[in-house]
Amino acid sequence: MNDIQAVLERCGIAASEYTGGTLRVASPVDGGEIARLHETALADMPAIIARSKAAFLAWRQVPAPVRGELVRLWGEELRAAKKDIGRVVSVEVGKIVEEGLGEVQEGIDICEYALGQSRQLFGKTIVSERPGHRIMEQYHPLGPIGVITAFNFPSAVFAWNAAIALVCGDPVIFKPSEKAPLSGLATFRALERAIERFGDKAPAGLAQIVIGPGALGEALVDSPDIALVSATGSTRMGRAVGPKVAARFGRRILELGGNNGMIVAPSADLDMALRAILFGAVGTAGQRCTSLRRLIVHRSVKDRLIARVLAAYRNLPIGNPLSAGTLVGPLIDEAAFSMMQKSLVSAKGQGGKVLTGGERVLADQFPNAFYVSPALVEMPAQTDIVRHETFAPLLYVLSYDDFDAAIAVHNDVPQGLSSCIFSNDMREVELFLSTAGSDCGMANVNIGPSGAEIGGAFGGEKETGGDRESGSDSWKQYMRRTTNTINFSRELPLAQGIVFDDPTPR
Ligand code: UN1
Repeated sequence: MNDIQAVLERCGIAASEYTGGTLRVASPVDGGEIARLHETALADMPAIIARSKAAFLAWRQVPAPVRGELVRLWGEELRAAKKDIGRVVSVEVGKIVEEGLGEVQEGIDICEYALGQSRQLFGKTIVSERPGHRIMEQYHPLGPIGVITAFNFPSAVFAWNAAIALVCGDPVIFKPSEKAPLSGLATFRALERAIERFGDKAPAGLAQIVIGPGALGEALVDSPDIALVSATGSTRMGRAVGPKVAARFGRRILELGGNNGMIVAPSADLDMALRAILFGAVGTAGQRCTSLRRLIVHRSVKDRLIARVLAAYRNLPIGNPLSAGTLVGPLIDEAAFSMMQKSLVSAKGQGGKVLTGGERVLADQFPNAFYVSPALVEMPAQTDIVRHETFAPLLYVLSYDDFDAAIAVHNDVPQGLSSCIFSNDMREVELFLSTAGSDCGMANVNIGPSGAEIGGAFGGEKETGGDRESGSDSWKQYMRRTTNTINFSRELPLAQGIVFDDPTPR
């Protein structure tokens, strides 16, 4: 912990930046203050947005594969700074060392992915119904992109968006979570170093960061000059952002709450299911949007599986995330702890039985931090509280007898981010993946719901927002498509066979 200042400085964040400001940043590891950052003035937002607009006019003219070179350099900078940025993530949001490093790796991966994408921004060529005609699509840069991120992936989610936006020809304005601005800043500084090395083909204002309260994000949401707002956070946040962006006909990518389930069938490999349950439910202290929150187990294997989960839960190394061997670090803050307690009270009120966990631990060692023992709660049915996302290590256990009923329960929640099944029965597996199966944006087989690779499209349905980012064809959202019909004949036939002749007498 006490090395954090040296780490921040190696990340390019000077003491003058992280001292003397108005935004207090505390570490969830021990509750101690690590920085007082200077905040961006709300009054500066119009100028910041104007700079981005001006940068767009220049950046869109740089050939995409050349833009790709910039993200290649960013990937190099992230590689070189991986340990330090990972450390900032661990200190600032309480991730264990492995996960802090994993998050930076996710940024490196998306830079490499975006570099390849920079040579593949292609549209289709379409046959025309008219002779001597050809139809094609082009993808052009879209405009300035606002990226608003949550505390729990303070580095990677910015990288997902910025790496793709930059190769697509779009400048970015980054608004990191107030709970994790340092990790965002450290990741951003690596991009700035890459821009510096890239040289003057990168216009001023290509990448900007704004630090401070939600109002800064609202300025991005409300500005007609921000072509796309990519926002990660709660469903409550999405309900505010979505309609505002829609009202001005802007584009949005919303990545909101999840309530991710796992079906464990009779044929499941229970050793594998157990490991997936542990990483999914207690990894990142249950604070991933993809964290496992609902276990839907066939009655015939329930006792066996739950006994093993309980044994593992009782042995979980909970503690300082910076220490080797720790698997469960702290919750982000007291509010997160209170939410978890409230949910536990509701669960008990709705017939739930706490099988283990849920208590605050290590309070004597860390009186100003919030460590909890992960909770496992058996529910008689999928009651209201189970249908609600609690951002903490709280896993509900439900049982099933009939597979179709398991799928119905699985889908009967408002959120639709990630899902998985453990089964070796190919009929069950295929049904789970089929039209009649999981209704989530991500449906996995024999792996847990969290820890997705960057190559796939990431996102979910229903209250999760319905959008996708990161891999696959997510890049298309950062570009505008034009459909071009080209006539190389000497006639002017109209589509649909319409006859509309020149009436001038000859
Ligand atoms: C998030 O929690 O907001 O799939 C993102 C995962 C990570 C990203 C999570 N790759 O768990």
